Amino acid sequence: VSFGQNQYMAVIEQGHATLTLTSALRDTNWVTVRWSNGHDSPFHYVWLRDNCGCAECRHVIAGERMSDPASIPLDLIATDVVTVDDSLLVTWPDAHRSSFSAQWLAAHAYDSVSRARSRRPLQLWNAADVAEAPPTAQFDEVMSDDTALLEWLLRLQTYGFTIVRGMGSSPGNVPMLAKRIAFLRDSNFGQVWEVRSEPKPDSLAYTSVKLTAHTDLVSREAQPGVQFLHCMVNEAQGGESILVDGFAVAEALRQQNLEAWQTLIRVPAAFRYQNDDTDVCASFPVIRLDHRNEYFEVRYSNALLAPLDCDRDDVLPFYAAYQAFSLLLREPRFEYSFRLEAGDCEVFDNRRVMHGRQAFDPNTGRRHLQGCYVDTDDFLSRIRVLQRQSDFRLR
Ligand code: OGA
Ligand code: ZN
Ligand code: ZN
Repeated sequence: VSFGQNQYMAVIEQGHATLTLTSALRDTNWVTVRWSNGHDSPFHYVWLRDNCGCAECRHVIAGERMSDPASIPLDLIATDVVTVDDSLLVTWPDAHRSSFSAQWLAAHAYDSVSRARSRRPLQLWNAADVAEAPPTAQFDEVMSDDTALLEWLLRLQTYGFTIVRGMGSSPGNVPMLAKRIAFLRDSNFGQVWEVRSEPKPDSLAYTSVKLTAHTDLVSREAQPGVQFLHCMVNEAQGGESILVDGFAVAEALRQQNLEAWQTLIRVPAAFRYQNDDTDVCASFPVIRLDHRNEYFEVRYSNALLAPLDCDRDDVLPFYAAYQAFSLLLREPRFEYSFRLEAGDCEVFDNRRVMHGRQAFDPNTGRRHLQGCYVDTDDFLSRIRVLQRQSDFRLR
């Protein structure tokens, strides 16, 4: 049995790169690992055995698990644990042996201090925090340089939006930028769609009316993650863009109206989109938390709100909470308002940052944006792969 770890398991999480192993102590149910900073992390024997990365437990090339989860006794205790060359070597009663690098253990430690440290690096903002110097990137730099690409994606993850400048007015540029991250997300609107005032619009977006801050494709089970809106021409009067940090609004609601917040994370709103050959519905809460009780997504588009399908006792609380959220998100303190110029592209996390625009007058000039989406999974995957490839320091 080898001590080998497969290539995928060895991904280095940069934020932990400086921690080394000092000691490992055998306890009843777990090994207590002490780090060079004096902090202790427990790792249960069952957890360690289950995460063994040896060639018997994981396919050497495919990297996927081949071990039987039911074969590990819950009262398993290692017969020996030692630290060698900044790795934890574990010997099991059946003579099977496992090896875990300090970096891998640090990246996956699940004590509360370590979990708090590995929270997503979100920076919630109000308009005043970003209006002076919004997070930006330069089209030619992110297209040609992987470090610039990674820096841009991390900024996008942190703030939930960036403005990419220098895109020109060429119609192929926005899919080209999006594909720098991953393949495009398709929908009934197509992979790449044109936002301009049309005579027979199948969405309010394709009129010239004001769009209050919203997230896109709320009536689908999975809202698209990263949204791109590239301004090709903006010569009409009006049409200023609006971005609102939905997590900041949710957090403000929690602080000033806990009851409304608790309703919005629990009671599902209903959304529906219909055109001649599409009819898509979804019922999900407006604010969703993840398994760590951190903000997961905001889903809000009043234009697509549908008849509620919830318990009768939840109808009034829902409307009270929905109104409170709707009022809060249009407060000027949350609305980052700016004008997209030709060649600018707003790129935002559609599941966090709501977007909108003021009404514009199509008789005063042309306004044309081109848009597309990339899903969150593929956005996060791209970040991880770029980090794996570079020694760029996170945070
Ligand atoms: C959209 C949209 C905003 C704009 O197309 O989804 O919200 O600035 N457009 O036109
Ligand atoms: Zn193994
Ligand atoms: Zn939209």
